[in-house]
Amino acid sequence: MPTNHRLLLAARPNGIPGPENFTTDAQPARSPADGEVLLQTLYLSVDPAMHSWMSVGNGYNQRITIGDVMQGGGIARVLESRAEGYLPGDLVQARLNWQTHPTIPARYLQKLDLTLGTAEDWIGPLGLSAVTAYFGLKDIGGLKPNDHVLVSAAAGGVGQIAVQIARFEGCRVAGIAGGAEKCAWVANELKAHAVIDYKAESDLSAAIGRACPGGIDVYFDNVGGPTLDAALEHLRHGARVVLCGRISQTHATEPYGIKNLGKLAASRGRMQGFLVFNYHQRYEEARTWLAARRRDGSLHQRLHVLQGLAQAPIGLGMLFRGENTGKLVVRLAS
Ligand SMILES: NC(=O)c1ccc[n+]([C@@H]2O[C@H](COP(=O)([O-])OP(=O)(O)OC[C@H]3O[C@@H](n4cnc5c(N)ncnc54)[C@H](OP(=O)(O)O)[C@@H]3O)[C@@H](O)[C@H]2O)c1
Repeated sequence: MPTNHRLLLAARPNGIPGPENFTTDAQPARSPADGEVLLQTLYLSVDPAMHSWMSVGNGYNQRITIGDVMQGGGIARVLESRAEGYLPGDLVQARLNWQTHPTIPARYLQKLDLTLGTAEDWIGPLGLSAVTAYFGLKDIGGLKPNDHVLVSAAAGGVGQIAVQIARFEGCRVAGIAGGAEKCAWVANELKAHAVIDYKAESDLSAAIGRACPGGIDVYFDNVGGPTLDAALEHLRHGARVVLCGRISQTHATEPYGIKNLGKLAASRGRMQGFLVFNYHQRYEEARTWLAARRRDGSLHQRLHVLQGLAQAPIGLGMLFRGENTGKLVVRLAS
């Protein structure tokens, strides 16, 4: 039996999480019972929402108990199966949690359709971050050709796909990102029509005004706080504001008070939040759409790959410091 290395939640975060919030253990992997499979984890996705799962919970995910294995999704290979339809070597995705060799009931697994993409594609441009961008823009944002779109955290996992979807749909897209390198990548690789380095701007609203002349039809908000407020100032008539995430507020002692809600009324706009999990019955639609653009070479993806389970807590902290360049994943095996 292989050894199952795990990362357990040891302490709730007080600020940006890191290795100090976890302990490790190692024990022989559990043999699968009837209906279960033993897996080898290949990739783990590291996501900002994990901070709230570790802390107070947020209504859609029960908070993790101290001493329990850290939760998280990923891609794995079947090593041993006692479940119909699963054979050693099959690639699957599931909530594997932060461990090298989970044993999981097969009903929680989804077999990867390798006609859509590779295992790397399934953690990247076909993964949940990409699917989030798809439903956020198309369903919540009601994206239409010629819309003027603004995306924050545009170089990140969700943002980079949102920028490209908007461009593929014939929109004018501006991206906000932190730092010259990320902005250059959003402009040159993702082909955004305009970029804003929010870290270099003293007046973000003025910078949005310059990057989005004539205003914004769809604002895809990954960060919340003052960035959301600044974007609201530029809404066009009938604008849609997509509340995808609010990473800037994760560590705020006082939540930022939005001042420009009046602009929503004036523009007859709407603002709506969403969780990608509510679209699980339509994931296939998103993945088919994304895979087609991946196959024809138009959809780019930058993965930020860390090596080894011990890097997962470091990666989680990187998200909140803006140190990730692309969708952050941890590779445990090839
Ligand atoms: N609604 C849903 O179902 C759903 C699903 C997945 C993700 N999300 C949300 O989508 C957002 C992006 O997630 P992701 O996984 O793609 O992460 P990501 O964008 O790859 O990484 C997070 C990025 O946020 C930016 N950031 C961090 N702190 C910030 C601050 N104080 N102010 C402004 N920007 C800051 C950084 O980019 P810069 O270097 O550019 O600042 C950082 O690289 C998150 O808010 C996440 O919670 C929502």
